[in-house]
Amino acid sequence: MARLRKGKSKSENIIARDNAIMIKTTREPYNFVAESGTGEFVYDVDGRKFIDFSSFISVYNFGVNSSEAVRKAIAEQSSKLMHSAFTDFYAERPVHFAESLMKFMPAGFGRIFFSNSGTEANEAALKFSKLFTKRNYVLAFYGGFHGRTKGSLALTASKSVQRAYNGPFPDVIHVPFPYCYRCPLKQTYPDCGFACIDYIKKYPLSKEVDPNEVAALVTEPIQGEGGYIVPPKDYFKELKKVLDEHGILMVSDEVQAGYMRTGKFLAMDNFGVKADIYTMAKSIGAGLPLGVTIVDKRLGNIPEGAHANTFGGNLAVIAGAQAQLEHISRNKARIESEIRAKGRTAMKRMEKMKEDYEIVGDVRGMGMMLAIEIVKDKIGKEPAPKLRERIMMESFANGLIMLPTGESAIRIIPPLTISEHSLSKGFDILERAIAKINAESSRRR
Ligand SMILES: Cc1ncc(COP(=O)(O)O)c(C=O)c1O
Repeated sequence: MARLRKGKSKSENIIARDNAIMIKTTREPYNFVAESGTGEFVYDVDGRKFIDFSSFISVYNFGVNSSEAVRKAIAEQSSKLMHSAFTDFYAERPVHFAESLMKFMPAGFGRIFFSNSGTEANEAALKFSKLFTKRNYVLAFYGGFHGRTKGSLALTASKSVQRAYNGPFPDVIHVPFPYCYRCPLKQTYPDCGFACIDYIKKYPLSKEVDPNEVAALVTEPIQGEGGYIVPPKDYFKELKKVLDEHGILMVSDEVQAGYMRTGKFLAMDNFGVKADIYTMAKSIGAGLPLGVTIVDKRLGNIPEGAHANTFGGNLAVIAGAQAQLEHISRNKARIESEIRAKGRTAMKRMEKMKEDYEIVGDVRGMGMMLAIEIVKDKIGKEPAPKLRERIMMESFANGLIMLPTGESAIRIIPPLTISEHSLSKGFDILERAIAKINAESSRRR
């Protein structure tokens, strides 16, 4: 696998040029400069080969650089017409894609808006919720991540640096998420009886705002950037009862957890709850930028001119998305059972690591949306971001690409199409790194 060369490499050269000209973003600590990729493998500009446990931030659910069929569909549409100003003029392709997508949605869903990213999909959901309910306030969760433009940034409460100097955000009230490994209310599930839901009723919804002024609650089914936090099975059912009592809409942000990642098309389906609005992006575009906001038909429509954009429904993007969706449509049962099987294999490995290594505090996830939380030790549970970084660097040096999440967790989100062999090989690399850092850390304890 990956081998570092001596001297100034192509990667180092490009990174130096990048640092000199690009506005800073969230770059990972390791020097990965992508060149090409296919399936679960990626190659950098220095010819090093890696197993991908990142899906390039949850975008390549169906293999790095998507399938031949997706690339062909994009190429064919591109040679005819790429952009058709879909919110001004009409075109058949995006309508057909909308009709196809609706078959994956719960009964009653029937209206859709196309954009270019997760943040825009959430901006639209926010705007629509307020227009539908004629209410101004919105609830969102601490630890939630919904994007980085003004409206979605107001919902995001993942890291304060993301919001710095952009507030105030007066319309959003944040509430605690059921992060049971580190309960914000210091309770233990299930004895707590969902104290965090009682808190929402007792405080924000009675002391801060009248529930009749709240348009929506926006949530991820599983918090992504927040640390891959999976709520207890019945949490959303209980929460939805409170929302329904007051006519507050539920927006399920499926940008990271959706599109089969958890083994179901919609991650919220794992909790037996039907939201009122769903947003998707990342993987649904099959490698090209696509955001979608899908609305329960009973909510009606918004006034003409209230919302639109330039590129939503771009024909080349939609062509690729359609080809990938058709693949899922034809093979859904097989895909679901493969995700379940691989998810089980992965979880077994992770559970064993939790048993074997003091610095593995928690392992969690659903389907193939998995994470390992690194701590200083199991009893203190103190987050250990430095140890996490060293595990990721060590894994990278040995040919495995991963992403961090939350304060000290590592995501394990390979393409869903990864072979059992590569999955196991990737875990071997990860486990060797954890064992090494665990030994170093225990010598220091
Ligand atoms: C759950 C969730 N919502 C929204 C977004 C924002 O998506 P984008 O970066 O495409 O704007 C992300 C991105 O990580 C996400 O994970």
